[in-house]
Amino acid sequence: MSRISIEKLRFLLRYAILAPSSFNTQPWKFSIGEDEIQVFTDKTRWLKVSDPDQRELYISIGCALENLLVAAEHFGYGHQVVYLPDPDKEELAATIKFIPQGQPSPFRGTALFNAIPVRRTNHKIYEERTVPPDDLKRLQDCCVEEDILLYMTGDLDIRRKVDRLVMCGDAILLSNPAYREELGYWIGQGTFGTPWLMAKLTKFAITHIDMGKRQAKEDSKALMSAPVLAVLGSKVDDKESQIKIGQVFERICLMATDLGISTQPMSQIVEIPEFKAVLMMLIQDSDSFAQHIFRLGYAEQEKGHTPRRPLEEVLV
Ligand SMILES: Cc1cc2nc3c(=O)[nH]c(=O)nc-3n(C[C@H](O)[C@H](O)[C@H](O)COP(=O)(O)O)c2cc1C
Repeated sequence: MSRISIEKLRFLLRYAILAPSSFNTQPWKFSIGEDEIQVFTDKTRWLKVSDPDQRELYISIGCALENLLVAAEHFGYGHQVVYLPDPDKEELAATIKFIPQGQPSPFRGTALFNAIPVRRTNHKIYEERTVPPDDLKRLQDCCVEEDILLYMTGDLDIRRKVDRLVMCGDAILLSNPAYREELGYWIGQGTFGTPWLMAKLTKFAITHIDMGKRQAKEDSKALMSAPVLAVLGSKVDDKESQIKIGQVFERICLMATDLGISTQPMSQIVEIPEFKAVLMMLIQDSDSFAQHIFRLGYAEQEKGHTPRRPLEEVLV
């Protein structure tokens, strides 16, 4: 007999679906069982061109999983996560068993829970203001997973070199018509919360015009405005590590939100295999695999929220 009602587990999922995901594809599905939730990838929402190895797909899944665990702990549930539990069910990313009375983990807590509905990716130019060492430490302490590494730097020379990679990345990616078509498709779906007409016009422009140079300039300005650049890497380049990277990333985003710090992933570099290795050389950790890159800093808040699919649509 189940000890936690389906309604309660359903309620927890309302927090999971507020997670960030690449292009806001929300590539997840959930199934509710007896004291258990299964998290599946939704391959129909996989970005086949920009994410051929499914790295971003699994990072996005990890973000949703982390929100689920933060919410579960907030409401007093313990949990046991099994990653990729069944090799015959490729789409099953994780199974979470819930226990009625659980102790919250020291690295999760009310501040992270409160940040879930408020967190947003911030695309604006960040202010010229450094992040205090105490806050950097709190962000660093979010990375507790074994074999996952968080590297944060304000070093101008490294940021400049990374900036050049980002600019080249934009030029390479946006010169590919298939990449533009994929990006255009998702923008046209309104996933970024753009009003309908603008979404359709932007879809048309992205699909038909190579905006690589313009995008590179904008991304460069954004990246160089941020006082901190962060890279998440893993010792092993597999799906389980990528789910865990997503968990750490979301934990950092929630902690950053609580501290008034903005975040924005900048995935161009990690979408080009050759650049991933260069990135790890730049941060002097060639033994690890680059998985995710983002900037941190202070900025005026983004207005509104990006849309989410209703919970009913992601339940199986
Ligand atoms: C794996 C991953 C990669 C992402 N890459 C980028 C990126 O390259 N540029 C960007 O502006 N946002 C990126 N994002 C942020 C998403 O676009 C964002 O989460 C989504 O649009 C939902 O908006 P929200 O985070 O404000 O809720 C990424 C998010 C994830 C999880």
